[in-house]
Amino acid sequence: MSGVSAPGTVPAGSLPGSDSASTQPAAASAALSADHLTVDRGGRPVLRGVTFEVPRGTVTGLLGPSGGGKTTLMRAIVGVQVVKSGSVTVLGLPAGSAELRRRVGYVTQAPSVYADLTVRDNARYFAAIYGVGRAAADAAIAAVGLAEQAGQLVASLSGGQRTRVSLACALLSSPQLLVLDEPTVGLDPVLREELWGQFHELAANGTTLLVSSHVMDEAGRCDRLLLLREGELIADETPAAIRAATGTLDLEQAFLRIIRERATPPEGKVA
Ligand SMILES: Nc1ncnc2c1ncn2[C@@H]1O[C@H](COP(=O)(O)OP(=O)(O)OP(=O)(O)O)[C@@H](O)[C@H]1O
Ligand SMILES: [Mg+2]
Repeated sequence: MSGVSAPGTVPAGSLPGSDSASTQPAAASAALSADHLTVDRGGRPVLRGVTFEVPRGTVTGLLGPSGGGKTTLMRAIVGVQVVKSGSVTVLGLPAGSAELRRRVGYVTQAPSVYADLTVRDNARYFAAIYGVGRAAADAAIAAVGLAEQAGQLVASLSGGQRTRVSLACALLSSPQLLVLDEPTVGLDPVLREELWGQFHELAANGTTLLVSSHVMDEAGRCDRLLLLREGELIADETPAAIRAATGTLDLEQAFLRIIRERATPPEGKVA
């Protein structure tokens, strides 16, 4: 693997999905599916019978208001959430299967790297776990735009910078499915743009990405959108189809229309 990588690009040798994912049979085209998934947390329903499929090699946005269930759904996908009923299938296997450990990357909403280590030591630590070497660690740091901060303790970084350290570490395992919980929070517009560019570069190489956000202006950057509100999936479409169905180009307005339509009982029926 080349240790040199321009900032803003993912090192070619660590591009996930560039081998096994692209050779999967067409029949296994869904990277991820949920079937009537129901989850309770704190004694109340948080996901209420959610059913959807995510095609391989796409960037799918998981959007919706705070508390809608995005993180809970992601936890179910990576197999760390107790499920009440229904199922989640990831890369053809039940979510949480041991075989998926190396094939699924998860960047949590709260950065999950070591605050008392430097950026470089975090990346090298995860590189050693995944057996990919120091050059890959340095390249991943450069890929998330943190080369200048490589020697800095994570504790001294900003929130957005810490998120990027988590992302760099997740990239090192070359996952076929990358689950990113609000990865762009706290990032300036330039870095956001760069990260979204990287997400699409990864998808073009066969990785499937599920990216949550409650910033609607990011919705238009996704290939597909899942809109989750109060534990229910109220849209599962491409941005273009959502715009066409609601008659507005503004996705925030489109979502508001979908929500209003669902709140209004069909004509002639009593609520
Ligand atoms: N540990 C927990 N115990 C009990 N209830 C929880 C717990 N974590 C989350 N919840 C509840 O589950 C619901 C969904 O939370 P979740 O974190 O999945 O939402 P979210 O869409 O990710 O929100 P945000 O955009 O704020 O991150 C919320 O009502 C929340 O209060
Ligand atoms: Mg969340």
